[in-house]
Amino acid sequence: MLEKNPVIFIILAFVVIMIGTTVTMIAPFKWINSEADRIAEVKPYTPLQLEGRDIYMREGCNNCHSQTVRTLAADIERYGYGGGNSKSGEFVYDRPHLWGSRRTGPDLARIGLKYPDPKGAWHRKHMENPQAVVPASNMPAYAFLNRPLDTSYSERKMKLLKFPYTPADLNELKGKTEMDAIIAYMVKLGTDVPVKKTGAPKMALPAAENPFKSLGAIKTEAIVLYNKDCASCHGDKRQGSVGPALRGSARTEADLFAIIAKGVEANGMPAFGTALDEKAIWKLVTLIKQGKDE
Ligand code: HEC
Ligand code: HEC
Repeated sequence: MLEKNPVIFIILAFVVIMIGTTVTMIAPFKWINSEADRIAEVKPYTPLQLEGRDIYMREGCNNCHSQTVRTLAADIERYGYGGGNSKSGEFVYDRPHLWGSRRTGPDLARIGLKYPDPKGAWHRKHMENPQAVVPASNMPAYAFLNRPLDTSYSERKMKLLKFPYTPADLNELKGKTEMDAIIAYMVKLGTDVPVKKTGAPKMALPAAENPFKSLGAIKTEAIVLYNKDCASCHGDKRQGSVGPALRGSARTEADLFAIIAKGVEANGMPAFGTALDEKAIWKLVTLIKQGKDE
């Protein structure tokens, strides 16, 4: 019957669609993005970080990288780096937000926690030539960003977005390259969330004693572990790169264990005490101590 009266049919269809729209798209504004979601520790961008963010958009990094850790356990495990899932309060200064939906590359919401080095040595190497760090990577090389940063709009951008800045912040832009800016942005991403930055090591420290006396039996497993978590910074043959060479070491096994579990974050060595268990760390220690031959 109804379908024979197009006007009434259109009106009713419109009403039904609007109910769905209201429930899923308008009503939620009542309970999300409120002041209560604000996270005091989340800071606005500095001029250098903001320039980096603009280059990130200009280069379309967001076509391959998302910036949101979903609430799924797998997502938190892979991309949370101790910060858990993304909260709305983390994005108050992101205009526009860069959540994205394509993940050709990994999520970058907490990339600053993954590579804690404030100077971003790993990023520089990776940005200039991703395949030199991750051989199977299909990320394009961005070595061309090693060119002077255009700062003519920097102050206006800060004013427009109402971000606080000091003359010293603007001064810091002098002589910087586009690469410096994008690295400053990467290093900041995700580091403001009020969490234990790396998570406490799973094991008690100092660790008991290395259960593996000789490398022989565990070498293959140790190398698999090494290639997965360490090679990108210490070189594919442990010859050293962003981090020092790991072929033999004068340090005690307990010291090596502690460095791997706790990291030396200020110098760019991430902590692996949550990602790896005790056995895995001992295997790596054994490889570093005894594997001098390759
Ligand atoms: C064609 C898709 C693509 C584009 C465009 C791209 N990336 Fe990537 N990116 C990847 C892939 C794939 C990886 C994983 C392999 C690797 O580490 O190189 C990756 C890895 C990364 C990582 C390391 C992530 C980690 O967890 O170790 C960073 C940081 C990164 N990209 C930043 C950028 C930035 C900044 C840009 C823009 C200037 C960019 N990417 C553009 C595909 C891309
Ligand atoms: C993001 C880069 C990065 C990754 C990934 C990384 N390291 Fe490091 N590592 C460093 C840097 C940088 C240093 C130097 C720290 C310093 O100078 O205090 C270092 C130092 C070390 C040291 C101390 C070396 C010494 O004699 O001073 C050990 C041992 C070590 N790393 C082991 C590992 C192991 C094992 C893995 C993998 C589970 C790993 N690292 C992954 C960057 C990295």
